[in-house]
Amino acid sequence: MNQNDKGQQNGPGGANDERFAEDENEKTLTNRQGHPIRNNQNIRTVGNRGPSTLENYEFLEKISHFDRERIPERVVHARGAGAFGYFETYGKVGDEPVEKYTRAKVFSEAGKKTPVLVRFSTVIHGIGSPETARDPRGFAVKFYTEDGNWDLVGNNLKVFFIRDAVKFPDLVHAFKPDPVKNIQDGERIFDFISNTPEAMHMITFLFSPWGIPANYRQMQGSGVNTYRWVNKDGEAVLVKYHWEPLSQGMKNLTQEEANKIQAENFSHATQDLYEAIEEGNYPEWELQVQIMEEGEHPELDFDPLDDTKLWPEDQFPKLKVGKMVLDKNPENYHNDIEQAAFGTGVLVDGLDFSDDKMLQGRTFSYSDTQRYRVGANYLQLPVNAPRKHIATNQEGGQMSYRSDKPEGVSPHINYEPSTLNGLHETDQRGEYYKPYVEGYLTRESIDRKNDFKQAGETYRAFEDWEREDLINNLVNTLKPCDPRIQQKMVDMFTECDEDYGRRVAEGIKMGMAAGAGSMNMESSEEIMPTKGKLPKHGGSPMGSTGAADAVDEAEEKGHDVDPY
Ligand code: HEM
Repeated sequence: MNQNDKGQQNGPGGANDERFAEDENEKTLTNRQGHPIRNNQNIRTVGNRGPSTLENYEFLEKISHFDRERIPERVVHARGAGAFGYFETYGKVGDEPVEKYTRAKVFSEAGKKTPVLVRFSTVIHGIGSPETARDPRGFAVKFYTEDGNWDLVGNNLKVFFIRDAVKFPDLVHAFKPDPVKNIQDGERIFDFISNTPEAMHMITFLFSPWGIPANYRQMQGSGVNTYRWVNKDGEAVLVKYHWEPLSQGMKNLTQEEANKIQAENFSHATQDLYEAIEEGNYPEWELQVQIMEEGEHPELDFDPLDDTKLWPEDQFPKLKVGKMVLDKNPENYHNDIEQAAFGTGVLVDGLDFSDDKMLQGRTFSYSDTQRYRVGANYLQLPVNAPRKHIATNQEGGQMSYRSDKPEGVSPHINYEPSTLNGLHETDQRGEYYKPYVEGYLTRESIDRKNDFKQAGETYRAFEDWEREDLINNLVNTLKPCDPRIQQKMVDMFTECDEDYGRRVAEGIKMGMAAGAGSMNMESSEEIMPTKGKLPKHGGSPMGSTGAADAVDEAEEKGHDVDPY
């Protein structure tokens, strides 16, 4: 809409005119041309048995819009749910004024509220897949700040599988269903993982009960990658973000518990979020950050930019920054949640990237896919548009329905600089942070890989029941795998922790009654032998104990019926 023409928008025939035709009221069904629908039960036909005719505009509009109801689903994180709410800043980071570290306005002035949209998701399977999957959960937050949008695109787990963006399509292909069978296959997953040692920390979380959070409300969130905060003097620190659930607490499921829930409801997490908000039981999270001085930190045994690592809390305590409350359900799932577009590049003044190469890869990928998935003008959609002044010289593109020219600016000037009445840039606020970068252009992995140490620490930090579930889930998924993959995995578990490797090896050996594999280990009573039989053609979904049994049961338990 051209804001200069505001006067012409109102009144009869203006763009804002919502008058009724003579026999209409607000509940009268119309088509998108404004024609009242007088018969929504029958198409136009020659006689009441047909054939039908081609000029049925109402029918054609209705059915052809229906044919286009879906947009491409997200290539990852397709299954999701979301809600609106607000973020309230404490004005401090821990006990210090937040301005010491960042000039981002979203954090200043204790008690200030910023509207947010949150979308939770699972990663691997399609849009209608069960929400009990063993999978990381997405935790993406859009802050509609006074300085424009800030997206914090995170997961529930605080580490990730890989540290280089070029490996992301391979990681996702290995976890997605087999391109021939269209079934997720643990053998393909562990084929990739057994050649990707940096994934061991994430795998240790993923196959434990932390891989199936009870629902979206009762889980943590994390930015995972390292970002920067910049203050008014242009000084920067490294930060990691964490969302910690408040009164609703935190809960995970064992595989067995998840199986039962999945049998009754494959949308339990969406339902849980929607109902909690409808009932006024608003979920709340506290935003906490870990701060590290800028620099490479050679004194640490890990690289601060490595997203497969946790920053030890005893050295880098979590400092409280504010809290988020979700108190409003979407008005329309497709408009508000399916079309929502988050990206790691969407930052505001005072928040910055780090040199984390994964983060830079992500930043290209998000808006690239959104231009394809939602369209070139995805930022014009109300859910994605910032809730503030917008003025650009961008023009056209599919489905453009507004020109970003505010009142008082010439609609003819869509370029800059101009002496005429066009848009112009504004002054820099505060000092730029200017990192000095120097080095050989290279294709190398980082020096301090340390792939196994933190995975071992995480294994030892689990409670007994968590370790037991972890071992069982790994054994169940590794059991049908090629013995070379089993051996590589056991070797890596052993590098993480001797007990970890031994228990997985023993479990695989015990599960070998059916004859697959050739691990040379003594069996042990400590491990529960897995119940299910091996799938006939190899492979089964992650963590599954009874994938092959389920296939047979469907045939065995099915009731014979006669054709009609
Ligand atoms: C190089 C690594 C990565 C790449 C290339 C990548 C790429 C993508 C892409 C293409 C999407 C679909 C976006 C859309 O269609 O709107 C997506 C979604 C998502 N990614 Fe990543 N991703 C990477 C790593 C990560 C990591 C480490 C996290 C967690 C911190 C993460 C969290 C998410 C979330 C939460 C979503 C869903 C956003 C939503 O709800 O719309 N991704 N990612």
